Amino acid sequence: MEESPLQRITVEKTFYIETFGCQMNAHDSEKVAGTLVEEGYRQVGTPEEAGYVFYNTCSIRDKAEQKVFNRLQHFKRSAGKDKVFAVIGCVAQQEGEKIFDRAPHVSMVAGSASYSKLPQMLVQLEAGNKRVTGLSLDTTEAFDTPFTRRDNPHRAYLTIIEGCDKKCSYCVVPFTRGPERSRTSDSVMEEARRLADSGRTEIQLLGQNVNSYRDPSPAGWDFATLLDNVGRIPGIRRVRFMTSHPRDFVKPIIDAIESNPNLCSHVHLPVQSGSTSVLQGMQRLYTRAQYMERIEWMKNARRPISITTDIIVGFPGETESDFEDTLNLLEEVEYDSLFAFKYSVRPNTPAMHLGDQISEEEKTRRISILLERQRAIQIRRNTRRIGALEEVHVEGRHESLQQWIGRTEQNQTLNFSGRDNEALLGTYVPVRVTRAGPNSLVGESVR
Ligand code: SAH
Ligand code: SF4
Ligand code: F3S
Repeated sequence: MEESPLQRITVEKTFYIETFGCQMNAHDSEKVAGTLVEEGYRQVGTPEEAGYVFYNTCSIRDKAEQKVFNRLQHFKRSAGKDKVFAVIGCVAQQEGEKIFDRAPHVSMVAGSASYSKLPQMLVQLEAGNKRVTGLSLDTTEAFDTPFTRRDNPHRAYLTIIEGCDKKCSYCVVPFTRGPERSRTSDSVMEEARRLADSGRTEIQLLGQNVNSYRDPSPAGWDFATLLDNVGRIPGIRRVRFMTSHPRDFVKPIIDAIESNPNLCSHVHLPVQSGSTSVLQGMQRLYTRAQYMERIEWMKNARRPISITTDIIVGFPGETESDFEDTLNLLEEVEYDSLFAFKYSVRPNTPAMHLGDQISEEEKTRRISILLERQRAIQIRRNTRRIGALEEVHVEGRHESLQQWIGRTEQNQTLNFSGRDNEALLGTYVPVRVTRAGPNSLVGESVR
């Protein structure tokens, strides 16, 4: 049915965007918001005020996926009159047009590989089209927009590679983000230089498997070369990268960190499990021994490197002894922090047919034992840091605590006091660690 012109103009050109999921999604939202602003839309702070409500969704686990449907349910009544709902990101790509059936007040469903077509999709929405989709995954290029809206003046995300070519048996990402596409080294360097020129001193290079980066241009840079070069751009003081896949984690990356002090000595290297047989079932492409070899490289580096990880408990077939292997791996590596997840069966994944073999109760038991062990490790490691001198990048201020909020090179939170009346946001301050908790450090600035 044709929409009446009257209905069309009642939708205001204002938008609200809520983001779920990983940093890739957070950065995608910056790109989407930038594109919307470029197209004449104004960003507002609540869905109630907005003409266009965007949900940038995550489907990594069932719980994440349900969040968007809860939001949509909440707004069921206000749809159609003065609001347009758009579901974008990983749930959009995964569920496609089925979203229209489940939530008929949604007018747009688009996956991340279609964001370059956003301006055209907006035209269709404004014309009153109630079923606009962007679901093709056959893109060969990474989405790179000059309009990215970065609100943080001190640090910035920069995508270097999109998609994933691995096929871990539990994971939706290869389906929701499509195949791997790397940006050219020229375009990455140009964007990094622009960020430095705009006063940003910290850059976080992003990719589902950031270290699988392969420059498609004739220069043919590998990840270590790109990392090193970004770290040599004048004005850049910290370069981070996330997430590294163990299989593609090669020695030159450590050599680059050792030789270039602007590369942060922190590696997030998800292991998922300490048991080689579970790793096989997960199709992770490495054994425990191969993973530990990479850990040894880092432990033997000339500069101490902080290591963090992701763990999944309760993968189908995980026995008590497999779980014990994960626990003893934690002790062996001594991570500075980790994210632990209960296994969640995902649609279309190879592991789906194995079902959900470990009960929810047992997963809860395992994850709490694991988190308890890790908490003890973190207390132990952080306590050793008392007395150390750290350089902190200042990110905020806790007025009530009279403390500055900062982050160390190794990505730990280090809050400090001692320089209350100065403008410190975005600066780098030397701080002496005076106290340690399981998740953060506290210190005093050193004048
Ligand atoms: N590309 C990264 C991880 C991306 S997803 C890598 O391969 O390491 C982030 C984390 O979510 C994963 O490391 C994994 O621990 C978790 N995860 C992914 N799929 C999951 C599932 N089906 N159930 C539970 N956790 C999952
Ligand atoms: Fe998912 Fe595995 Fe790809 Fe990581 S490497 S995004 S866990 S399929
Ligand atoms: Fe979630 Fe998609 Fe990121 S599934 S974790 S938002 S890649």
